[in-house]
Amino acid sequence: MKKTGKNKGQFFLSLCLLSVFVLTAFLTLSSFSGSADPYDTEAGKYTRDDLRRGQRLFKGLMPFSSGLHDCASCHYPSRTDTMNWNPSAHDLAMLWLEDDDYSIREKLAMPIGTRMIEDHMGMSVTEQEEHYLEAYLMEVARRGPGELQAIPVNAMIFWGLGILMALAIIDLLVTKKIKTKVFHVLILVVGLMVHMQYAVAESRNLGRTEGYAPDQPIKFSHQIHSGQHEIDCQYCHTISKFSPSAGIPSNNTCLNCHSVIREGTNSGRFEINKIHRAEASGNAVSWIRVHKLPDHSVFSHAQHVNAGGVECQDCHGPVETMHILMQTSDLSMGWCLTCHRDSNVDFSANPYFQTYQRLYEKVLNGELDAVTAAELGGEDCMSCHH
Ligand code: HEC
Ligand code: HEC
Ligand code: HEC
Ligand code: HEC
Ligand code: HEC
Ligand code: HEC
Repeated sequence: MKKTGKNKGQFFLSLCLLSVFVLTAFLTLSSFSGSADPYDTEAGKYTRDDLRRGQRLFKGLMPFSSGLHDCASCHYPSRTDTMNWNPSAHDLAMLWLEDDDYSIREKLAMPIGTRMIEDHMGMSVTEQEEHYLEAYLMEVARRGPGELQAIPVNAMIFWGLGILMALAIIDLLVTKKIKTKVFHVLILVVGLMVHMQYAVAESRNLGRTEGYAPDQPIKFSHQIHSGQHEIDCQYCHTISKFSPSAGIPSNNTCLNCHSVIREGTNSGRFEINKIHRAEASGNAVSWIRVHKLPDHSVFSHAQHVNAGGVECQDCHGPVETMHILMQTSDLSMGWCLTCHRDSNVDFSANPYFQTYQRLYEKVLNGELDAVTAAELGGEDCMSCHH
C-alpha cells in the first residue's frame, strides 16, 4: 500500500511537470504562429501554384532561367531587430503595390546606381518568373512587415509558476499525494515572490516605453548623419531652442542635401528615393513618434536647451551612435525630479535667469555657491502639470 502511495506521488509530480511543459510549449508556439493561411491569394489573377513557385524562386530553392539567385538573402522576408540596409521583401512588395506598372524585370534589366548594378550582377527575370515573383510579393504585402518574434520567457515563467502553485494548493488541500509539506510551501513562497516582483515591475512601467525603437518609414540613421557626418542636431531639429517641441524635419530639410546626394553607401538609392517620392506626392513622411509624455504633463525643449543649457544627449542618450533611434530614459516624473535636484543652474551664462533677481544677486555676491533647477521651481507641481 505504502509503495503505491509513493508511486502516486511520483505520478502526480510528473503530471505537474508535464502540464507545465505542455503549457509553455503551447504559449511559445502560439506566439510564433503567423497570421492566416499564407497560400491564400486574390481570386483569379494568381494561383496557389504561382505563389509557391514565386516563393521558391525568391528564396533560392528553385533556379531562375538566368541561374540560381537567392533574393531572400538580401531582401529578408521577415523583420529583423537590427538595421537591415537592403530593402526587405515587404519593401519591394509595397513599391509594386503602389504602382501597377512596376516591373521587377525592367528594374533588373536597366539598373541605375552602384548597389543596383553590383548586387544584381548576372540576374535577370523572365516574364513568367516575374508573374510568380509578383504572386509571392502580393502575399508578402498582404501579410505586412510582421512582428518581431521574441521568445516570451517572462510569460512562460509567470504562467508556469502559476500552474505549479495551483497544483501545490490543490495537493495541499484536496489530493494530499505528496506528504512532505515543505515542498508545497517552497513552491508557494517562491512563486508568490516572483509573481509580486512581476506585478510591481509591470505596473510601474505601465504606459512607459523605455527602450522603444520602432522601424521608421525611411531608414534614417542618426549615426550616419550626426555621428559620421557631424551634422548638428539643431540643423534638423531647428525649433528646439525656442519652442516647447524639438520638431521633426520636413522633406525640404532632407532635400537640402539629398537633391544632390542621391545614393547612400549602405542602402543605395532605395531609401533616399522615398524622400523624393514623398515630395512628389506632396505628403510628409509619416515618421513614428518615439518619445511621448502623458497629456497631463508639459515639457519644454526651449526651457532646457536654451535657458538650461542641457545637452540633448543628457536626456536622449548617445543619439549620434544610433542607426535606429531608441528611447533611452523612462521619462518618468522621478527622472525629471532627480535631474532637477542634481543640476546646478549656470546663472552667469544666461540673461534669462536675471528674472530671479534675489537669487541672481546672491550668486553674484558669492553668498550662494549654486542654485539647483529644483530651487528655481523645478519641483513645483504647477511647473509640469498645468
Ligand atoms: C546582394 C544582395 C541582393 C540580392 C541577392 C538581391 N538584391 Fe535586389 N536589391 C538589393 C539592394 C541593396 C537594392 C537597393 C539598391 C538601390 O536602390 O540602389 C535592391 C533593389 C532591388 C529592386 C529595385 C527596387 C527599386 O528601387 O525599384 C528590385 C526589384 C530587386 N532588388 C529585386 C531583386 C530580385 C528579384 C532578386 C533575386 C533575383 C534580388 N533583388 C537579389 C540587394 C540585393
Ligand atoms: C539630418 C537631420 C537630423 C539630424 C542632424 C538629427 N536628427 Fe534627430 N531626427 C531626425 C528625423 C528625421 C527623426 C525622425 C525619425 C527617427 O526617429 O529616427 C529624428 C528623431 C529624433 C528623436 C526622436 C523623436 C521622437 O519621435 O521621439 C530624437 C530624440 C532626436 N531625433 C534627437 C536628435 C539629436 C540629439 C541629434 C543630434 C545628435 C539629432 N537628432 C540630429 C532628423 C535629424
Ligand atoms: C546636411 C546634409 C544632409 C541632410 C540635411 C540630410 N542628409 Fe541624409 N545623408 C547625408 C550624407 C552626407 C549621407 C551619406 C551619403 C553616403 O553614404 O555617401 C546621407 C545618407 C542618407 C541615407 C542613406 C544612408 C546609407 O548609408 O545608405 C538616407 C536614407 C538619408 N540620408 C536620409 C535622410 C533623411 C530622411 C533626411 C531628412 C530627415 C536627411 N537624410 C537629411 C546628408 C544629409
Ligand atoms: C531635459 C531633457 C531633454 C533634453 C535636454 C532634450 N530633450 Fe528632446 N525630449 C524630451 C522629452 C521629455 C520629450 C517628450 C516630450 C513630449 O512628449 O511632450 C522629448 C521629445 C523630443 C522629440 C520628439 C518630438 C518633439 O518635438 O517633441 C525630439 C525630436 C527631440 N526631443 C529632440 C531633441 C533634441 C534635438 C535635443 C537637443 C537640442 C533635445 N531633444 C533635448 C527631453 C529632452
Ligand atoms: C538632464 C537634466 C534634466 C532632466 C532629465 C529634466 N530637466 Fe527640467 N530642467 C533642467 C534644468 C537644468 C532646468 C533649469 C533651467 C531653467 O530653469 O530654465 C530645468 C527646468 C525645468 C523647468 C522650469 C522650472 C521653473 O519653474 O523654472 C520645467 C517646467 C522643467 N524643467 C520640466 C521638466 C520635465 C517635465 C522633465 C521630465 C519630463 C524634466 N524637466 C527633465 C534639467 C532637467
Ligand atoms: C519636473 C516636472 C514635474 C514636477 C515638478 C511634478 N511632476 Fe508629476 N509628473 C511629471 C511627469 C513627466 C509625469 C508623467 C510620467 C510618469 O508617469 O511618471 C508625472 C506624473 C504625475 C502623476 C501621475 C502618475 C501616474 O503614474 O500616472 C501624478 C499624480 C503627479 N505627477 C503628481 C504630481 C504632484 C502632486 C506634484 C507636486 C508635488 C508633481 N507631480 C510634480 C512631471 C512632474
